[in-house]
Amino acid sequence: MPDPALRAATFLDKGGVGKTTATAHLGVALDRHGYDVLLLDLAGKQGDLAKHFGLWGDIQADDDRWPNITTVFQDQWETISEKLPTAVEDLIVPTGEGPDLIPAHESLDGLDATLGNIDEAAERYSRLDEFLTGYVEDDYDVILVDLPGSTSNIAYNGLWAAKHVVAPVRPGPFEAGQAAQLRRDLKTIREEQDVNIELVMVLLNEVDERTKAGKAYLEEFEDEYPEALAPAQIPSSQDVQNAQMNGGTLFALERPSKTAQRAIEAYETDAEALVERLGGGR
Ligand SMILES: Nc1ncnc2c1ncn2[C@@H]1O[C@H](COP(=O)(O)OP(=O)(O)OP(=O)(O)O)[C@@H](O)[C@H]1O
Ligand SMILES: [Mg+2]
Repeated sequence: MPDPALRAATFLDKGGVGKTTATAHLGVALDRHGYDVLLLDLAGKQGDLAKHFGLWGDIQADDDRWPNITTVFQDQWETISEKLPTAVEDLIVPTGEGPDLIPAHESLDGLDATLGNIDEAAERYSRLDEFLTGYVEDDYDVILVDLPGSTSNIAYNGLWAAKHVVAPVRPGPFEAGQAAQLRRDLKTIREEQDVNIELVMVLLNEVDERTKAGKAYLEEFEDEYPEALAPAQIPSSQDVQNAQMNGGTLFALERPSKTAQRAIEAYETDAEALVERLGGGR
């Protein structure tokens, strides 16, 4: 029996902090370290994770795509997967940089409401967990789930399935509160639903540890999150967007800038730490 895949979800109840960027880059870093990686996009119909790999145009061109990520949440999924032997394969797209991807689909828009109609919380939040356990887990070493920047039934499914959260934070004068809020939210979930979802990595995004402000943020987060703070923080790099426009991550750049190189090294260090914190490592 292969070991079950390590799982983590990228989440913070705030938009634009670097969740999708972190998912893509940690995923590619892990692949380069020899892990088989699956990335899963639950972050919304705009398909940001596929865009990161230059795949969204082609994926969207086939807008009748079925089955898609939403299908695995449906009551009929088990039957569908029995009748259609390629159902799981059909969901998965290779990124070209190593990891496999289950991309978003426009039907994610209605999924939150559909899940909301399921009476039992235990069932409402466990559909993704069942899918990962039953259908993909044995084929991968690590599964990273990209979540939306707000709580919803979809986000809860990601948290329930992964049980471990990577929270990117873009530090600023008012930002420390967001991570604190996440910690409170996880505590509430633990108490109300009796599931333990752990904050395994706080990743400071677009912070320069060499500047005075950067150092101050870092110290603040070191005090607040001595265990969860990532070992390396991610500098701001114009190349993140340049790479994306070329249809890839920083790892795919032929001539990465200095800041891009620092970001690449930081993601590599953090990817290794993430595996250890998830109980893997070798
Ligand atoms: N280290 C970085 N340097 C420069 N730009 C960055 C960096 N990290 C992320 N960005 C840019 O910031 C924007 C937001 O990042 P990203 O899409 O990863 O955030 P998100 O948390 O997933 O947002 P959303 O909540 O909308 O899903 C993107 O345009 C991305 O290219
Ligand atoms: Mg995103």
